[in-house]
Amino acid sequence: MTPRRPGPAVVLAIASLLAATLTLPASAQDPVSGPLDGLAPTPPMGWNSWNRFACDVSETLIRETADAMVSSGMRDAGYEYVVIDDCWQVDRDANGEIVVDPERFPSGMKALADYVHSKGLKFGIYSDAGTATCQGRPGSRGHEYQDARTYAAWGVDYLKYDWCNHGTQDPEASYRTMRQALEAAGRPIVFSICEWGSNQPWLWAGGIGHLWRTTSDILNCYDCRVDWGGMGFIHILDLQDGLEAYAGPGGWNDPDMLEVGNDGLTDIESKAHFSLWAILASPLMAGNDLRTMSSATREILTNHEVLAVNQDPLGRQGRRVRKRGDLETWARELHDGSRAVVLFNRGESDADLGVSWPEIGYPARLEASIRDLWRHEELGRFSGGWSVRVPAHGAVMVRVSP
Ligand code: GLA
Repeated sequence: MTPRRPGPAVVLAIASLLAATLTLPASAQDPVSGPLDGLAPTPPMGWNSWNRFACDVSETLIRETADAMVSSGMRDAGYEYVVIDDCWQVDRDANGEIVVDPERFPSGMKALADYVHSKGLKFGIYSDAGTATCQGRPGSRGHEYQDARTYAAWGVDYLKYDWCNHGTQDPEASYRTMRQALEAAGRPIVFSICEWGSNQPWLWAGGIGHLWRTTSDILNCYDCRVDWGGMGFIHILDLQDGLEAYAGPGGWNDPDMLEVGNDGLTDIESKAHFSLWAILASPLMAGNDLRTMSSATREILTNHEVLAVNQDPLGRQGRRVRKRGDLETWARELHDGSRAVVLFNRGESDADLGVSWPEIGYPARLEASIRDLWRHEELGRFSGGWSVRVPAHGAVMVRVSP
């Protein structure tokens, strides 16, 4: 029997099916359209109270931090969100409305959001998908739509949403509920998923949140580790290797907030941490005291050449291209075809580190210029590759342009 040729209707149906397949959004991260769309074309930047202040938050701290964000030049460098982490909330009232700590925030959240907005900045807040936050304050479980409406009425622009006390809740469903509640509240609010990577959020969080934590908490140290899972930035770094395919415009892997400028890191270590977070296309939430930071810390956080790598519009997360013991080379493709490269020496003594052109997708014979993004200096043109002496615990960051 000769097979029947498909009739015109069938051909049309197949053609439109194909067209539909081919016109799927370029990034699988793109959520369905709504007020939360398009909020994070590049990784969000800002400040969060937790790493430095833990529960010691107040409206005075937030106002002074907003002031410092402007006077230090951080706002002009691109930092935007001022986020209060855990401990601003104390109870729920008879109607289930969240109650703000009246002693620490006597003017209330609306007034504080207005103040932050008056500085040309955006305002963020924290809650938890479970019944209580990690510090035992009321969580949003069962109050998602009510809380989202409250945040919208206050003028909140960013919500970090934690995962403590979740019982048997399903992570994807729990975060999707809050996403829908935020959409329903109608105000554009960046949604920061803080599920610690326990259920591989990179596989399901795109389209729900704009960023998702990939690990347990970062700590104020270079390489420490504690029982409950907190760790120094070099251990967090190891857990990012291989996640690069899941990040892109609209949805970012979040290796946790910065410890730059906190007393557990030297300036050399802070620079390495910042270089690596930039090449990882990580959200950059400063976690130090902006009011009293040293000029060395301010220069790290506002290095515009490193920030340009972090905020590169192509939105491609970097990856580790070489590891020889303690010596690591990380690279990231940028929108103009150039590459950012971080040479990171994790070891205890100075060492020579390098990168070869084939490791970053260039032919060996290519001649490319190297620019040092910390010294702000052109270093010359090189073929085949390049190497440099890097101090212990330090990083050199360059841009390689053919
Ligand atoms: C968890 C989060 C931290 C911080 C604290 C607050 O540990 O991962 O980033 O928000 O809760 O209690």
